[in-house]
Amino acid sequence: MIKQGRSNLTKPIILGIVAFLTIIFTTFNPFSVAQSQSMSLRVGTEPTFPPFEMPSEDGSSLIGFDIDLMKAIGQEVGLDVQFESIPFDGLIPALQSGTLDAVVSGMTITADRAQSITFSSPYFKAGLAIAVQENNDEIKSFDDLQGRKIAVQIGTTGAMEADKIPNAQVISFDSAVLALQELINGKVDAVVNDAPVTLFAVKDAQLRGVKVVGELVTEEFYGIGLPLNSEKVMLVNFGLYEILRNGTYNQIYEKWFAGEPYTLPIIAPSLIGTGSSDFISTALNRGDRQSVFMLLLQRLPQGAIVTLILTACSIFFGLIGGSLVAFGLISHNAILKNALRVYVEFFRGTPMLVQLFIIYFGLPAVFQQIGLQWSLDRFPAAVIALSLNVTAYLAEIIRGGIESIDKGQWEACESLGMSRWETMKEVIMPQAFRRILPPLGNEFITLIKDTSLVAVIGFAELFRQGQLIVASTFQAFEVYIAVALVYLVLTTLSSFGFKWLEQKMNPIAQAKRKSALQKAEA
Ligand code: ARG
Repeated sequence: MIKQGRSNLTKPIILGIVAFLTIIFTTFNPFSVAQSQSMSLRVGTEPTFPPFEMPSEDGSSLIGFDIDLMKAIGQEVGLDVQFESIPFDGLIPALQSGTLDAVVSGMTITADRAQSITFSSPYFKAGLAIAVQENNDEIKSFDDLQGRKIAVQIGTTGAMEADKIPNAQVISFDSAVLALQELINGKVDAVVNDAPVTLFAVKDAQLRGVKVVGELVTEEFYGIGLPLNSEKVMLVNFGLYEILRNGTYNQIYEKWFAGEPYTLPIIAPSLIGTGSSDFISTALNRGDRQSVFMLLLQRLPQGAIVTLILTACSIFFGLIGGSLVAFGLISHNAILKNALRVYVEFFRGTPMLVQLFIIYFGLPAVFQQIGLQWSLDRFPAAVIALSLNVTAYLAEIIRGGIESIDKGQWEACESLGMSRWETMKEVIMPQAFRRILPPLGNEFITLIKDTSLVAVIGFAELFRQGQLIVASTFQAFEVYIAVALVYLVLTTLSSFGFKWLEQKMNPIAQAKRKSALQKAEA
């Protein structure tokens, strides 16, 4: 009976398990996943490069010449193309690490890059252009850029060319659009960027106040990038030849650029017969770990100093501002209190990156629109943004510290005939300060790390120095680990500093130390 009962139960259970596994395997079949993965192509692009890649109007997808081209190639050879947006200087490292199967990003085929990734045949002929403010008649060619301030997109051929100009101060941004904004705001003399993109911005996107001088000052060919020795390059090339042959390429070209496309070579001239390319990065000899190491030794300390200066200035102003705001927050003036609350909530409640963009790119543009030539330099803008933010956080910390002191002390001081200000200065603040120290230390460490955000406005602090080294050496892992270590050294040192200060400010610990010293002397 019992036996039978058991077998009666076992059957449905086994059947159930089999059915469950069947469902699991048919839904998440590792083989079918592998199959569909092998047919799908993860393609990276930096999507602020119109008309090659940009977000669609509703922002839900990507559009542009490169996007259409890649989709057409995918269709031709049966690859399911999936786009991923990635910063331009991260594209080659992503190919190297296998995070991406390909990149299509208006990327120029250079001999230098070809040592780290594989390029398809050229799919577009381009070159660099120089953009200046409309009223600038002095700059007409690369030669006129000597000793000037030039904005570029990080890691691009424009950045590499600008680096070669004697005495020029090159400021790098994450996107070409931001570099152009810098020019409009009058903070640089010129932008060196791909001609089709700059021309598109000036003509089609009606970027005001900017003109293009020196169109196509270099000759460059764009290629689709794939991991080194990727077998998919044949497939991609085949797809490219097919769409060139069957007219799809011409249709796409017409859609984004008026006129006839150039005849494209099978191999980019930059790859023919070049033992060495003349880009600065060859001097670094990629793969030569020693030179990367030398670069790190040279540039990271520079960056660390900038980071420390930024942190020190911001904490200094933050402490002053934070104390004032804290006093306001505990004052009896309702209007002041509410106004400061709004301030604190705004700066705590919005991302610092957004605040930085408003101060650095936004405000000058507004001033420009109302006919005023006003803009902030990178350093004051960074310090203002960081300080305003730190002020908001410190105000709350200081207010909390002050309010944590027993109310009875205020009354005691009052009965001693001390004024409110005297009480604050002599009695409350010294005690509050000790309580504030630990959260202040936290804030300091957070600030050291947050300064990396100002890289977006072209500030060559620690993180941006790392990015710049990666952009020319493509050794992302080693460089970013080194950058992280330097941050760690800075934060650990400050954490020790604050511990020491806490000890120093602690009357009990100090009294113990003193009596121990006295005992030892006796
Ligand atoms: N052609 C230039 C280069 O390869 C710039 C490309 C920038 N592309 C982009 N999607 N932002 O360096």
